[in-house]
Amino acid sequence: MAHLDYPSWLTLKDHAANVAPFSISKMFDDDKHRAEKFSLEAAGIYLDYSKNLITEESLKLFSAVCSEANLPKSISDMFSGEKINVTENRAALHTLLRSQQEQAPPQLKAEAKAIANALKKIESISKGIQNGEWRGCSGKKIVNVIHLGIGGSNLGPFMVDEALAPYRGKQFKDIQSHYIANIDGHHIKQTLEKIDPTETLIIIASKSFSTLETLANANTAKKWLLTYMDDAALEKHVIAITSNHEAAREFGVATDKILPMWDWVGGRYSLWSAVGLPIAIRYGFEVFSQLLEGAREMDKHFAESKMEENMPMILACLGIWYQHFFDANSHAVIPYDHGLRFLPAHLQQLDMESNGKSVRLDNETVDYPTGAIIWGGEGSNGQHAFHQLLHQGNRFVGLDFILPLKAHHDLQEHHDQLVANCFSQSQALLVGREMSSNSEFTKHKSMPGNRPSNTILMDQLTPQTLGALVALYEHKVFCQAVIWKINPFDQWGVELGKELSEAIYHQIKADNNTKRDHGNLDPSTSALISRYLDRT
Ligand code: F6P
Repeated sequence: MAHLDYPSWLTLKDHAANVAPFSISKMFDDDKHRAEKFSLEAAGIYLDYSKNLITEESLKLFSAVCSEANLPKSISDMFSGEKINVTENRAALHTLLRSQQEQAPPQLKAEAKAIANALKKIESISKGIQNGEWRGCSGKKIVNVIHLGIGGSNLGPFMVDEALAPYRGKQFKDIQSHYIANIDGHHIKQTLEKIDPTETLIIIASKSFSTLETLANANTAKKWLLTYMDDAALEKHVIAITSNHEAAREFGVATDKILPMWDWVGGRYSLWSAVGLPIAIRYGFEVFSQLLEGAREMDKHFAESKMEENMPMILACLGIWYQHFFDANSHAVIPYDHGLRFLPAHLQQLDMESNGKSVRLDNETVDYPTGAIIWGGEGSNGQHAFHQLLHQGNRFVGLDFILPLKAHHDLQEHHDQLVANCFSQSQALLVGREMSSNSEFTKHKSMPGNRPSNTILMDQLTPQTLGALVALYEHKVFCQAVIWKINPFDQWGVELGKELSEAIYHQIKADNNTKRDHGNLDPSTSALISRYLDRT
């Protein structure tokens, strides 16, 4: 087992013990400039991290650990295409997807060219569908896009599509998009039965083109298309986004309808690639470019800012601080914006599939916490669901409140109330309330307070600020991985489940109502299979 042995680590640990009894409110009283000192603005994002159990000394120690972890070099290695995903011998170039291709470093010119070509295809497809040049087999315009994909091939584009809802139908007739991920037949059935295949485009997004769920949905969708058109017509209704060109061709996707995914882009980091095609189709290529631009701005901030002024590094260190020294094992993201209600789900995969690891790059098993449990939900709904635990529970939860200051609607009263609720939650967690009455339930009605939170603001939720926000979290995750010495870009942990599901599937299919010999399955799983078979 291996521990973190940065030279400053024990000092940080002692410092945490010193700070633990501090009152955050008293730190505000003692330093009138605290709110200003512990806030930061970059790429259209404003971070108020003053309501944290930290001092200026904490920041200095965070900075020392970041440099002792060689974080600047790791950042430069990532941007320059080093194969930092060592267990898959790959680079991690999601930042290149949104960079200005002409500024790509010499060693990445080929990748930059491939990205530029892919962006041209995204632009031409989206423009052709919007202006009606792209017609279906019966000559009708495409008005429905079904995006088939799961994990990073679904969560990113779906979250962005919902977040940008106010930008729908601005320039042209709104194209409906439908995201189907699960293999559960209910979703695809309910979707297909309500739309006309002759005006529908199916996008099959799968880096491997071997993910069970996506292939099952793709086959069902293809069968549905073929009840209304012949094979030849398919090429007007199917696009694949994959790194497995051969499998896509075998499926019947026309060569010129296959857009690339590269092995140097992880699924959970891929919304900036052709996986984001439904965004360009629905909102226009310009909006998709603005999304990339926002992420690029955050990349620049991340790559160029020293730790004390580096937003992703600060969020990363705060997460590590609470997990290692305050027993926080979860982190909640609470967007006070209906459009961002699916951001927590995207961040769950981004963070937990990246940092849910316990073996380090030096092959040692960690003896410390790594990836946090990420959860959350839209505010103000959470106040009527899980905020009770945040205020009176006994679990230390890392917290990010996210709030666009300007709404995309004119119901100012609603927005004023939303803003007041968001700010009141972080304030209530800070100050708490000691009930003075001597009623028998005084303790039940008191709130301890002194509970930290971050507040992340943007002037308005736009494609740019959305891109910057997502990139902020991507880089937070990366910084934590570097400090924890783990690889955030592989995901070996998902393989076993896939293999076992294959075996169980064949057990189910092979059943011929004779003796239920489920081989070497554990008795529980065997009994569950039998129960399923007996009842269907
Ligand atoms: O969950 C495992 C995983 O490989 C994710 O990393 C990925 O985003 C998802 O499955 C889908 O994979 P693919 O894009 O290859 O279908």
